[in-house]
Amino acid sequence: MLVKQLTVKNFRNIDEACIEPAEGVNVIFGENAQGKTNLLESIWLFTGCKSFRSKRDRELVGFSRDFVKNELTFLASGREQTACLYVDTKRTAMKNGVTLQSPAQLIGSFNAVIFAPTHLTLVKEGPLNRRRFLDTALCQIRPQYAKALARYNHTLAQRNALLKDVGLHPELLDTLEIWDERLSDFGASVAAGRLWYTEQIGQTADSIYAGLSGNREKLKIDYVNNIGAYTQDVAEIKALLKEELQKSRRDDIFNKMTTTGPHRDDLHIQIDGLSARTFGSQGQQRCAALAMKLSEAEILKEQTGEEPVILLDDVMSELDESRQDYILNHIGGRQVFVTCCDPTAVLRLCEGRTFHMEKGRVL
Ligand SMILES: Nc1ncnc2c1ncn2[C@@H]1O[C@H](COP(=O)(O)OP(=O)(O)OP(=O)(O)O)[C@@H](O)[C@H]1O
Ligand SMILES: [Mg+2]
Repeated sequence: MLVKQLTVKNFRNIDEACIEPAEGVNVIFGENAQGKTNLLESIWLFTGCKSFRSKRDRELVGFSRDFVKNELTFLASGREQTACLYVDTKRTAMKNGVTLQSPAQLIGSFNAVIFAPTHLTLVKEGPLNRRRFLDTALCQIRPQYAKALARYNHTLAQRNALLKDVGLHPELLDTLEIWDERLSDFGASVAAGRLWYTEQIGQTADSIYAGLSGNREKLKIDYVNNIGAYTQDVAEIKALLKEELQKSRRDDIFNKMTTTGPHRDDLHIQIDGLSARTFGSQGQQRCAALAMKLSEAEILKEQTGEEPVILLDDVMSELDESRQDYILNHIGGRQVFVTCCDPTAVLRLCEGRTFHMEKGRVL
């Protein structure tokens, strides 16, 4: 995967920009608030995923502008392709000149992995961030996972609605059986996918973390669920989940919500046997999150046969020199975009093209 050219129009504080990046490292540097992360975000949106910093599409459009029109020329599957993203109140995407039904259909065409300061929540905050990490990563490589997840969430919402009504309408209790069957069906596919992904990521993240810490510390990542499923066999997980749903039925009716299932699962991230969330230092947490993100890139490569583009927002600032060196050596051979205020740290190790951002312009 290679970005050949990026054109940006009216995107956040960037009125107009056009860059032709190098095949290796590209350093986007400049003072604070000049538009470095904005430029990185404009590349990320071509993955078809949502922004990592805004929920509303409208926020992407430059103040006092009516629309965004970003274009990307990239190399994928051995040929040059184009994508166009148009945003006003919503996003519209085109691929190779054809308008797509939804920008999400870009997923799989242009692959990238982003690490931004907000990804520290992966280690530091609640389980929702970790479930989201697994779901986003899996959706990029397994379309059938995205389907199972959407069905699971839909069924969960319906079961929860029923649990709210059942107090007033006890006759609805019989229908709970149908929802339990469906929920355990889709839930088993979701849990099996996540268990598989955790196994993959566990191995690579451990070796990346070892490299980052100069072999001094060990990272361990486990998928934890409250049904005790540690097999990737969908039928076995389904049976366990169904049993657990039946056991917790009384609690669920009392709480008016489903208290068991993949929507309650988590990843346990440990450094030298201690919870990284509770005991990790800032640097350790940053490295653990980074190791997970770089592993995501390796899994993408394994599954798609193509190296994703790596986008690193402000990654170097709090890391010591040896950790910075490891990152830059480790990502060699891929196209990388790094933002920073001072480019000397990055350029110390590798040759790269530099882009100086100032007031929303690439100088
Ligand atoms: N929709 C928008 N229209 C215009 N400007 C915007 C919009 N959204 C964000 N901005 C502005 O873009 C500016 C640059 O943001 P960006 O996050 O890219 O800075 P940065 O160069 O990465 O800075 P830092 O080094 O602090 O991370 C901010 O000052 C912000 O106010
Ligand atoms: Mg920034």
